[in-house]
Formats: sequence, C-alpha cells, structure tokens
Amino acid sequence: MKEQLAAIVTEVESAVPALEKRAAFEAFKATISGPNGKLTAAMKGMKDVPKEDKPAMGKLLNETKQQIEALYAATLERIEAAETAEKLGPPIDPTLPCPDIASGSLHPLTQTRRLMEAAFRKVGFTVAEGPELETEWFCFDALNTPEDHPARDAQDTLFLPEAAAVDNVTKHGSERYLMRSHTSTVQIRAMMKEEPPLRIISPGRVFRRDTTDATHSANFHQMEGLYVDKNVTVVDLKAILDYFVAEIFGKGSTVRLRPSFFPFTEPSFELDMKTPNLGKLSNQWIELGGCGMVDPNVFRHVGYDPEKWTGYAFGMGIERIAMIVHGIDDIRYFYQNDLRFLQQFA
Ligand code: PHE
Repeated sequence: MKEQLAAIVTEVESAVPALEKRAAFEAFKATISGPNGKLTAAMKGMKDVPKEDKPAMGKLLNETKQQIEALYAATLERIEAAETAEKLGPPIDPTLPCPDIASGSLHPLTQTRRLMEAAFRKVGFTVAEGPELETEWFCFDALNTPEDHPARDAQDTLFLPEAAAVDNVTKHGSERYLMRSHTSTVQIRAMMKEEPPLRIISPGRVFRRDTTDATHSANFHQMEGLYVDKNVTVVDLKAILDYFVAEIFGKGSTVRLRPSFFPFTEPSFELDMKTPNLGKLSNQWIELGGCGMVDPNVFRHVGYDPEKWTGYAFGMGIERIAMIVHGIDDIRYFYQNDLRFLQQFA
C-alpha cells in the first residue's frame, strides 16, 4: 500500500504542470480522487491492512491526501490566473492617454489673451504684471487723475476698508486701498522699475462697481500697452493699432482714433475698429478701448524727463475682443462655467 500511495503522488506531481484548462484538470482529478479514482481505491484498501499497521497506514494516507490537495490547489490557482489574464486581453500600455476622459481646454478669455499677447510680442512688446489690489496713488494720482474725478467716487470703484493693510503695496500717505479699476496702474509700475525705452503690454483683471448685465461685469479683463522712447508720435500709435487689428481680425481691418479725454494721456482717443471679415458686424465701427499720448505729468510722477521722453498708451477690453471674434452676445457667459458654452472653444 505504501508503494501504491507513493506512485499516486508521483503521478499527480508529474501530471499537473501540463494541465492548462479547468476541464482537463477536473477530468484528471476524477482519475485520482473521484469515486473510481486511484486514491479512493487505495483508501478502500485500508480494510485489508493488518490491525497493528492501521494507525501508521492511516497517518500516511492522510498525509498523502493533504499533499495531493495542495497540488490541486496550486494547479487551480494557476489555471484561474490564466483565465483572468485571457479575459483582460493583451497587456495594456499604461502610458497611453485614457480614451474615455475628455481633456480640458483653455478658457476663451485665456485663448483671446494669448492671441493678443502673441500679436504684440511679434513686434517687440514684453508682458508686465501688476497687482489687482492697488492703492489710490497707482490707480489715480500717478496717472494724473484729479481728486474730483468720478472714478475716485465710491460709487464707481471698489475701495477696501482702512483696516485691510496689505503687504507689498506701497502706501503714499493716508490713501485708500482699492481693486484696480484699469490696468493703467501697470504703466506706472513698469516705468518706476525701468528706464526708457520701454515697450510693454499688461493683461489682467480689473474691477468696477458695475451692475452686471449683457455688456457689463463687476470684474473683467483689459490689456494695457505702453511705449516710451524718443520722438514717439500719434502716427506710431495709429500704426501699432492698425497692425494689431489686422493680426486679430484679418487683412483689411483698420482703426479710427476718436478725440476723447483721459487724465493720463494728451491727446486722448477712443479706439474704434472696422473689419470686412465679421459677417453682420462687417464694415461698421466697433469700440475696442482708449488710447493716447502719455501725459507729461505721468512722466514726472515716475521720474522720467518729459522734455526727453515721449510715449503712447492704450487699453483694450479682452472680453470685448473675444466677443467680437466669436460672436458672443452676453459677457456673462464667460463667468458661468457652463460646459455647453466652454466646450465650443475646445
Ligand atoms: N485706462 C483706460 C480705461 O480703462 C483706457 C486707457 C488706457 C486710455 C491707456 C488711454 C490710455 O478706460
């Protein structure tokens, strides 16, 4: 009987590695442990074992059974792993992008800002930045804006409570803090930092006490431009703006400068644009912003000699340009985070 059991173990050991499928495994298992199996037959043989040998033989029989069960378990585990691998298909490449997840895209205002930046960078402008939280001096005084100017009224600009003292904002006397109402503050910051010649643009968020409607928002975006050099004239201003609108709106686009007033430029103009490429809006004047020649008083505030230096400045609404380019009729769409709107610009 001993030899019989040893032979069964050897047989199982040598047979299981070749078993690939569950059906083959079950069929083989039946030949050993099934009702007519070899191990079952050996167990039945116990009754013929002499009484005194029974305990030893019983023990051996149990050990053999355990050994064989362990071989079965390992084999089954291997077969199941193979079945799972087959269900999963060929090995995956974890570096591939996931096919089911839509990737995000830039907000239309970001796209428009970058388009505008690219146009100005091409002709030598660099991007300058300034804080959204400002002081009255940077927003008004340094820009030659008198005490009684309407923009300095609490009805027009968002002032902060006196207690809100903030780091990195230089205070001039007892002035108030405010959310900048235009990007012209960056003109001052750029000139205080560097000597002329200077050629910068400055895109960013600005704030007004406006009631929100289709064309107004309490915060929106502007792009400022400033060029300071010797002998800069209105011709240079007109030329850069003509160049800019042709870059954004295509060939045949031109600008018109309409006399106006800003405290920080003299002369000052409203900036209008006309293009043949805009469907319904083609060939009619559309306002883009303001511009003019830098006022000598502004140069005095930043320590530039107004006898020596001349310059132009302009400011345009980024929303305004995005709305014209894409035919958007309500400024509020930009801020609602509605994917049905945003996905049109993906
Ligand atoms: N800062 C002005 C505004 O917000 C625009 C402007 C900028 C005008 C530069 C002239 C020069 O209305």
